[in-house]
Amino acid sequence: MALWSGRFEEGQDARTQRFGASLPVDKALFAQDIRGSRAHAAMLAAHGIISEADAAAIDAGLAAIGEDIEAGRFAFDAADEDIHMAVEGELIRRIGDAGARLHTGRSRNDQVATDTRLWAKERAADLMRANLALREALVEAAQAHADVILPGCTHLQHAQPVLLSHHLLAYAWMLSRDFKRLAQARDAADASPLGAAALAGTTYPLDRHMTAGALGFARVIPNSLDAVSDRDFLLDLIYACSVSSMHLSRLAEEIIIWSSAEFGFITLSDAFSTGSSIMPQKKNPDFAELIRGKSGRVVGDLVGLLVTMKSLPLAYNKDLQEDKEGAMDAAGTLEECCWCAAGMVSTMTVNADAMLAQAQKGYLAATDVADYLAKKGLPFRRAHEVVGHLVHLCEQRGCDLADLPLDDLKAECELFEADVAGMLDLPAIVAARTTYGGTGDEAVAVQMGEARADMEADSTLL
Ligand code: ARG
Repeated sequence: MALWSGRFEEGQDARTQRFGASLPVDKALFAQDIRGSRAHAAMLAAHGIISEADAAAIDAGLAAIGEDIEAGRFAFDAADEDIHMAVEGELIRRIGDAGARLHTGRSRNDQVATDTRLWAKERAADLMRANLALREALVEAAQAHADVILPGCTHLQHAQPVLLSHHLLAYAWMLSRDFKRLAQARDAADASPLGAAALAGTTYPLDRHMTAGALGFARVIPNSLDAVSDRDFLLDLIYACSVSSMHLSRLAEEIIIWSSAEFGFITLSDAFSTGSSIMPQKKNPDFAELIRGKSGRVVGDLVGLLVTMKSLPLAYNKDLQEDKEGAMDAAGTLEECCWCAAGMVSTMTVNADAMLAQAQKGYLAATDVADYLAKKGLPFRRAHEVVGHLVHLCEQRGCDLADLPLDDLKAECELFEADVAGMLDLPAIVAARTTYGGTGDEAVAVQMGEARADMEADSTLL
């Protein structure tokens, strides 16, 4: 019979008991549950609500149960509804009445909210670590390939040449924002619901500030109803995971395209590739595809919890038990994706020649040639049209802008001189983009310094 079964005559239907149980999911919270209970018991004793002797027995009993679970020696009983019941029931079996005093002034409603917040804070920190590892890999790759040029695209059409380092740093900045979102989610979780009891507070002189301090919470939630029914901190965490997964999916997509035969921009290391069971020649970017695919599930976790929360009346409702599975899935998935992407990026081979060869196709100098004319006084719109005609001419002849004789250029516009050749050189085109945040070598060096400083500052938040 369950610990709450005093007013019941019959036991629960067995299949329905399993339906209502959350133990398979929330046993992952055993360490947080034991920490929360130890803090609660110490506070009860400090305020004379239970005896020091009972508190000492509870503390030792909980510590021993924690060690048993940790070591895999604890036989969970499927008849226990959740981790709270499993631990408390075992405590009572081990130490008797002292154990039966632990739940004084407490409900599973504030207990589960406490456990879940402690878990969310820890997992946010794990994710922040994984995030930094991936940023480190991206920045290192950007540094290692500082002079590699590839075609920058809009609409996946060749647009203007960019540095590979600039391209990789764009992902580092996306991840920098993800880090801040994770830090915000951690802060959202950093408030103690313990002492709210079932929904209304209790008649015992609980010291909520004491338990909050002992558990490392920054604040105490000021409203008991809100304390037991708020799951915004999990939504914040899953949202942060969703946005970051989306960023990783974009990176994965580029890795997949770049490692195709058509692009050949990168070669993934064997350690981050798979083969085919039928085609002996295959080397597949499975892990990048999985990173791309898993992002869908993470976003599903966010939508799932949002829909679960919608329309819940105050205060605790059993629907809230559905909060943990998706949050754990989102955090676990993103964490693995970050580490996998970091490994992939730091071990991939960059095929600089293939990137440069593609950058030479598609008239990537066109904007610079138009700018050349505009700087000589031709209104930019006219210059755009002149170069458009020249591109058309190149297409008819099957040649590049650099192959057009000066006479043909002059026939389109008198302002062309021999110095236009300087506008057609890819490294010069790149270097000329000196604006802050642009792809010019010097601007990227400045950006690299800022990316490193940003990582350094973020690492102090761990
Ligand atoms: N397993 C429950 C959950 O995860 C714990 C709280 C149960 N509270 C209750 N009043 N039934 O939400």
